[in-house]
Amino acid sequence: MNIFITGGAGFIGSNFIRYVLDHRNDAFIVNFDNLTYAGNLENLTDVSQKYSDRYVFYRGDICDGELVRKVLKTRTIDVIINFAAETHVDRSIISSDVFIQTNIIGTKILLDAALDAKIPLFIQISTDEIYGSLGPTGKFTEESQIKPNSPYSASKAAADHLVRAYYKTYGLPAIITRCSNNYGPYQFPEKFIPLFITNALEDKPLPLYGSGKNIRDWIFVDDHSAAVLAILQNSRPGEVYNIGGGYEKENRDVAEEILTILGKPMSLLTFVTDRPGHDLRYAMDYTKINRELNWRPQMPFDQGLGLTIDWYKEHTDWVNRIKTKEYLQYYELNYGFRRVLS
Ligand code: NAD
Ligand code: DAU
Repeated sequence: MNIFITGGAGFIGSNFIRYVLDHRNDAFIVNFDNLTYAGNLENLTDVSQKYSDRYVFYRGDICDGELVRKVLKTRTIDVIINFAAETHVDRSIISSDVFIQTNIIGTKILLDAALDAKIPLFIQISTDEIYGSLGPTGKFTEESQIKPNSPYSASKAAADHLVRAYYKTYGLPAIITRCSNNYGPYQFPEKFIPLFITNALEDKPLPLYGSGKNIRDWIFVDDHSAAVLAILQNSRPGEVYNIGGGYEKENRDVAEEILTILGKPMSLLTFVTDRPGHDLRYAMDYTKINRELNWRPQMPFDQGLGLTIDWYKEHTDWVNRIKTKEYLQYYELNYGFRRVLS
């Protein structure tokens, strides 16, 4: 099975590549990534050594249709999995241009290339955020209304609509997956869990937005990989699958758990000005994938968080190399203006 993966040098993509190569010895991976600030080939050093005969990397932008078509011709591709995206909500609030470009235009260019090359399957990696926000009860199903609230989620929702339209209009065999919040090794430390771990390790304040009562449905990254692999093996074009971790947690509770595990003082918790348009709560109903594919998340949250914290403690060099000038500028821009609330 030849798999063309976009965005494979990022957090979920790199974990997925490792997962597939470990679980399917007939898999060959073509990783196509343009290495933005979030793409890092260091995430795959072990993979490129261990699986040098089943893994190849091409640096390229999904918005470059000519290059995409050229790389698609390098072997007979069985499936395209589109992980490539701009992914950080706070960055999309500061400026959304690149989100529109990569997440919408880039997806359209990939869809066109997939049609031209008659690729048998296209899997779009989407997100629960396209459904918007839940109140205190209920869960998102695949039939929930699409009501994105941030420029990031709006761009991902637009991409989902394009994928659906290419399936309906042109018969492109396509599937959409929508997953909740991932955590685990190799996550860029702009996101909540790795940011709070790395700040705590350096005795820096943990900036909780607003009340800290917003809820996310956390899933360990390998559980997400297992779900995508199951969907790929089952291959039912036209379907949408919700994927969730089943661990709904208030941000404040997660932050306190991180501090407790690390033996750091609760005084590092700092409530700061809220994120505009901050979704209150996400929770995924994953009945469909459980019923059809017998998938369910395996990793208990406490265990997964412990593993993740250990990984960041053991990879301070990786973290320090990631903290480039660009990262520090973004950090200053995003957190510099936030008022401390308490
Ligand atoms: P990430 O930001 O860690 O990685 C994104 C990768 O895409 C990087 O390697 C980057 O270099 C690459 N990329 C960006 N623009 C590109 C372009 N124009 N051409 C080629 N490559 C490009 O993201 P992630 O957290 O690993 O998310 C991967 C996918 O999963 C995204 O589509 C995201 O929307 C989706 N998703 C993420 C989560 C989550 O919790 N992180 C949850 C659900 C869905
Ligand atoms: O739900 C899936 C989505 O999860 C993915 O589609 C996105 O790509 C991914 O970034 C993530 O989006 P969130 O906005 O939920 O994740 P983030 O890590 O940015 O924030 C998680 C929660 O923590 C959210 O309620 C905001 C809060 N937060 C975040 C940061 C960065 C803080 O309180 N302080 C912070 O500094």
